[in-house]
Amino acid sequence: MSGSPGATGATPRRAAAEPGRDTRRGPVRIGAVVVAAGSGDRLGASTPKALVELRGRSLLAHTLAGLAAAGLPPAVVVHTPGAGAAFAAATGGLPVAALVPGGATRTASVAAGVAALDDDVEVVAVHDAARPLTPPGVIAAAVEAVPVGGDVLAAAPGIPVADTLKRTTRPAGDRTPTGGAVGGGAQAAVRGGGGDLPEVVATVDRTGMVGIQTPQVFTRRVLATALRAVAEGREATDDLALVEELRDAGRLTGRIVVVPGSVWSRKVTYRADLELLELLAAHADPGTLDPGGGQGGVPPAPGAAGPAGRGRDGGGGG
Ligand code: C5P
Repeated sequence: MSGSPGATGATPRRAAAEPGRDTRRGPVRIGAVVVAAGSGDRLGASTPKALVELRGRSLLAHTLAGLAAAGLPPAVVVHTPGAGAAFAAATGGLPVAALVPGGATRTASVAAGVAALDDDVEVVAVHDAARPLTPPGVIAAAVEAVPVGGDVLAAAPGIPVADTLKRTTRPAGDRTPTGGAVGGGAQAAVRGGGGDLPEVVATVDRTGMVGIQTPQVFTRRVLATALRAVAEGREATDDLALVEELRDAGRLTGRIVVVPGSVWSRKVTYRADLELLELLAAHADPGTLDPGGGQGGVPPAPGAAGPAGRGRDGGGGG
């Protein structure tokens, strides 16, 4: 993949962007957290999911390369507890800011990653290691959407939901590109039987529905407030949801916005996702092409001020 910085190895240090140069009111320091502590049980892999390879390179290394191509600084990588050495060896030679063990939930892993960022990081991008082909342009757009001092609390990429949505009695299966099938009811579907298949309960109005992706980007102040809410007993599968909850409770004021995402940013959950991304990656490099119809990205030219070096839009937190 193009856009990779020089290989300096996994050098543990605290994370923060280099200050930008072209700023009117001082640089905004951006930090990146890659959550990679998931087990990968649903993938059926013998190693943690982030270490699984896609075209000869770990999912983690692909993800780190995408962030670098978007102009972000080396990320804090949150790894499966006890597997730090394996993760350090799987960065593909790309620099990381720190390697820290994750928690039992995704939110706990995010909190561990944020705790390893430099205190002066003002904007935080939290990205799934399980999205190895997220176009750099999508990452940059999400970061650009969260100016410090604006009224945007958080931003994330989203893509329209194309299929009609049905609520079912349990999850349906997913037939893989090579003909296998996984998930609820899939084996019954393969056998051609209907006895064990999930049933349709209702059709859900898909107006305004989007599938939300990562990176999810926050001002540091907003993310810290949301993570403190977790300590108060709240939990969510998605960080944006924590901020929504505080907004809805009137504890935070501002907008949570969606920037255009990309089908290339598909999260690897099942074997089918990996097979699909293998097919995509075989035909193009999202670091150099623009697969998102304008949302993919050409990496910034060396020395150019990417989102990591953008100007400050105002003072204070979001
Ligand atoms: O399980 P799922 O694929 O939804 O996880 C999304 C991302 O969160 C993955 O990159 C996974 O490694 C990460 N995760 C984590 N810690 C957990 C659970 C998930 O870092 N306890």
